[in-house]
Amino acid sequence: MNESAVTEIPKVKTLPDAQEVTEVTHWTDRLFSFRVTRPQSLRFRSGEFVMIGLMGDNGKPLLRAYSIASPNWDEELEFYSIKVPDGPLTSKLQHIQPGDEIILRPKPVGTLVHDALLPGKRVWFLATGTGIAPFASLMRDPETYEKFDEVIMMHTCRTIEELEYGKQLVENLVNDELIGEMVEGKLKYYPTTTREEFHHMGRITDNLENGKVFKDLGIAPMNPETDRAMVCGSLAFNKDVMAVLEGFGLREGANSEPREYVVEKAFVGDGI
Ligand code: FAD
Ligand code: A2P
Repeated sequence: MNESAVTEIPKVKTLPDAQEVTEVTHWTDRLFSFRVTRPQSLRFRSGEFVMIGLMGDNGKPLLRAYSIASPNWDEELEFYSIKVPDGPLTSKLQHIQPGDEIILRPKPVGTLVHDALLPGKRVWFLATGTGIAPFASLMRDPETYEKFDEVIMMHTCRTIEELEYGKQLVENLVNDELIGEMVEGKLKYYPTTTREEFHHMGRITDNLENGKVFKDLGIAPMNPETDRAMVCGSLAFNKDVMAVLEGFGLREGANSEPREYVVEKAFVGDGI
């Protein structure tokens, strides 16, 4: 056979809105992150979420909301995911490999965006569990450091291993070619655990209310004149943090009405 006659057959996309998985990292038996190709036309604001998923057994797309964890300048898209053992989507999604396809509806939305906050001096990113995903995007966005003098990332999980994705992300940021210099001295990372011994412990709500985080970081308490906040966790966490923020005099904002803080659910349900 004449070899020059052999032409490469382009890979056929088998799913609607298909994107190809390029990388998968398993962090714990409950958590993994993955990267996929980015649709050329997809523009998003750091902090927004999209619907992603797989084809269900019934031949219909099985989609769930996912925060985009990568910044808007990244060529690819990153996601950070829970593995729910009998979850309709994640029981399957946790098995994806590079080269596989996922469905990604290119319609980003969400409230954890800079546009929904009034200008300020400090911004607080408050997250539990996979709620760190939108902040993985925002922490890597130059706009965050252009808009604020100080960025404080509080992330709380039950155990140390659950903090690892965020820890590595912050460590890599400082050495990042594009944004490393902007981040240095501005980003303060305050991870805590609640059910395993660690150098800093306690719920975000408690560490704000009793002033421990201000003392540990050597910074002034929250003040509605200077401080802005973005919150992402379970419904119960969001509700309790909102009460604490209101106690400091901050008010909830939205895209249509920017104020001092904004909130997004990290998932729907009571948690597992
Ligand atoms: P589901 O039937 O959707 O959920 C089953 C149960 O698992 C839920 O009732 C809840 O108790 C629990 N659960 C679901 N998601 C989580 C979670 N993230 N952490 C802890 N418990 C959970 N999930 C992510 O993993 N990463 C994200 O970036 C992310 N972003 C989201 C953004 C928004 C705006 C919303 C509303 C949800 C987001 N979720 C995210 C949750 C996601 O949409 C799915 O619920 C999750 O992928 C599980 O899907 P499932 O079909 O396997 O189980
Ligand atoms: P705790 O261990 O004290 O419950 P989960 O794994 O249940 O989603 O929780 C993730 C983290 O969020 C845990 O460290 C948990 O602390 C904390 N958390 C859960 N609910 C709240 C809440 N209502 N307020 C503050 N922190 C919370």
